[in-house]
Amino acid sequence: TYVVTEACIRCKYTDCVDVCPVDCFREGPNMLVIDPDECIDCSLCVPECPVEAIYAEDDVPADQRDFIALNAELAKKWPPIVERKDPLPDADEWAKVKNKRDQLIR
Ligand code: SF4
Ligand code: F3S
Repeated sequence: TYVVTEACIRCKYTDCVDVCPVDCFREGPNMLVIDPDECIDCSLCVPECPVEAIYAEDDVPADQRDFIALNAELAKKWPPIVERKDPLPDADEWAKVKNKRDQLIR
């Protein structure tokens, strides 16, 4: 499966959503996740994300591996998003911030 990591938090550019052939993105208040039960590993979403938030599970960086379980957990709770929308208002500012886990709204 593919995994959305920390870089998405408070950005939510949603370019990834448009290319997913199986609509497996789920939307929270300030981040998206991928439902691991639906993702078919096509990798199309990876180059779409302007902040490089998406990785194949095996390639998730060491300091981001907690997002594997987090995607699985939150995908069960959050609704599907199937169309691109405007990013969050301060997305370009938050794109530059490295440590922003504490900003995640579940
Ligand atoms: Fe969707 Fe493919 Fe990305 Fe999985 S890898 S989330 S199926 S676009
Ligand atoms: Fe997030 Fe990147 Fe998609 S910022 S919403 S994973 S395009």
